[in-house]
Amino acid sequence: MSANQDTFKKIISHSKEYGFIFQSSEIYDGLSAVYDYAQNGVELKNNIKKYWWASMVQMNDNIVGLDSSILMHPKTWKASGHVDAFNDPLIDNKDSKLRYRADVLIEDQITKIESKIQKEINKAKKRFGDSFDEQQFIKTNHRVLDNKKKIDDITKAMKKCFDDDDLVELKKLIDNLGISDPVSGSKNWTEIKQFNLMFSTKIGASSDSASEIYLRPETAQGIFVNFLNVQKSSRKKIPFGIAQIGKAFRNEIIARQFIFRMREFEQMEMQFFVKPGTQSEWYKKWKESRMNWHKSLGISEDNYRFHDHDKLAHYADAACDIEFKFPFGFKELEGIHSRTNFDLTQHESHSGRKLKYFDPEISESYVPYVVETSIGLDRMFLAILSSSYVEEELENDSIRTVLKIPPFLAPQKAAILPLVKKDGLSEYARKIFDNLKIYFNVTFDEKDAIGRRYRRQDAIGTPICITIDHDSIKDDSVTLRFRDSMEQIRISVSKLRSEIDKCTSLSNWLN
Ligand code: GAP
Repeated sequence: MSANQDTFKKIISHSKEYGFIFQSSEIYDGLSAVYDYAQNGVELKNNIKKYWWASMVQMNDNIVGLDSSILMHPKTWKASGHVDAFNDPLIDNKDSKLRYRADVLIEDQITKIESKIQKEINKAKKRFGDSFDEQQFIKTNHRVLDNKKKIDDITKAMKKCFDDDDLVELKKLIDNLGISDPVSGSKNWTEIKQFNLMFSTKIGASSDSASEIYLRPETAQGIFVNFLNVQKSSRKKIPFGIAQIGKAFRNEIIARQFIFRMREFEQMEMQFFVKPGTQSEWYKKWKESRMNWHKSLGISEDNYRFHDHDKLAHYADAACDIEFKFPFGFKELEGIHSRTNFDLTQHESHSGRKLKYFDPEISESYVPYVVETSIGLDRMFLAILSSSYVEEELENDSIRTVLKIPPFLAPQKAAILPLVKKDGLSEYARKIFDNLKIYFNVTFDEKDAIGRRYRRQDAIGTPICITIDHDSIKDDSVTLRFRDSMEQIRISVSKLRSEIDKCTSLSNWLN
């Protein structure tokens, strides 16, 4: 097992042990690719939502919010193209009877080659020490160059298959690469077939096909169909945006990588409506703005990169992903798409209703163009969890596991810890807790030795511990212990609120 896989396993078990994430319906052996957020997870998730919402809606006077329903008229999904084209190419292994996404099997092959390259680099780093020039090595080492060429060739061949919609060639590529079933090792594959990812159900009591509806596979369509309602009732002028956070559902075939690919997940999407012809300027602005949002979290910038799409969906004139370095490699965290006027035009023609905007500046009506930013809330959660999970070796040779979550996102902002239960310390600490809980999410813990309690708070990412000792009762002072530095300072109880606020307030991060 690689070091990264090992870390990923630890993060998954840490999430369960410390009340962040549980497998859904675990007592029935779980429901695959569906997860529940536990007591600490739901707080972290809500804080991520608050941060995104404040950055979008509160900080931009030309963006408003929306909460549209999960169930929509079935024609919505015909108009958007999801009924006909929201498919994954699937392949079955005849021996193991397991089903896979053909493109993911090929991407996994690429990941294997990438890790070979990384191994070469690590070996050379060890051999040459400080004098090692990584860029030069990558440009000149023949094994690295050979492997890079292999990756290029596979990527190009796969792209061609998708461009040509050629599933026969895609199957040949899998055969030629000698890809085997990761579980059984068998290379006995079926042909590849397209499979629609939408979950369907019936509305009302009727069982005829006319009553078939879908669980939305993206939140965006709720924004599109409400575009004119929101524009008119908010009196916004173009350019303006509509932001929404909500559940989406996809019948994903690959159920793995924890909360990275789920069947029920949440999206935070914003559609920005612009005048035709200005979309590329807005696309650039939103690309930059979204990357800055990620960087503002203080997570190492090396963890982010753009991936510009070569192959564009038929409705897009530009698209990119912001990729994050998850423990299993760089993968899509957020998509930024210039979607032209495709969706609104489709809804006009399927509904028969006009969705044109009258632009008072040019006295003309038009269907606006749309730039979309779309981020998976659960992937953002995983990005924060995996980048903040640290195992630190302490001076006494013990290891402390700490979640260095940005303080304003932490589930609990402070923990109130009486040194002992007796001598009135517990009652005094309770009063502090009662005074602070009006302003912050705080927790109270008086069980076990103080060192163990610090560790428990480190493990859930609480930025500040407040220890109440015998002197506190005499002089109304307490010890603050900071999570990351473990530094301790003594302050007056009267300053607690402002100190916690300084360290954990969301407003310090908004700009
Ligand atoms: N409206 C555009 C749209 O839905 P997408 O690239 O399919 O675009 C946007 O999805 C984001 O939603 C992705 O970048 C990812 O973060 C998240 N996402 C997509 N499928 C997901 C899944 N099965 N599980 C968790 N997150 C997912």
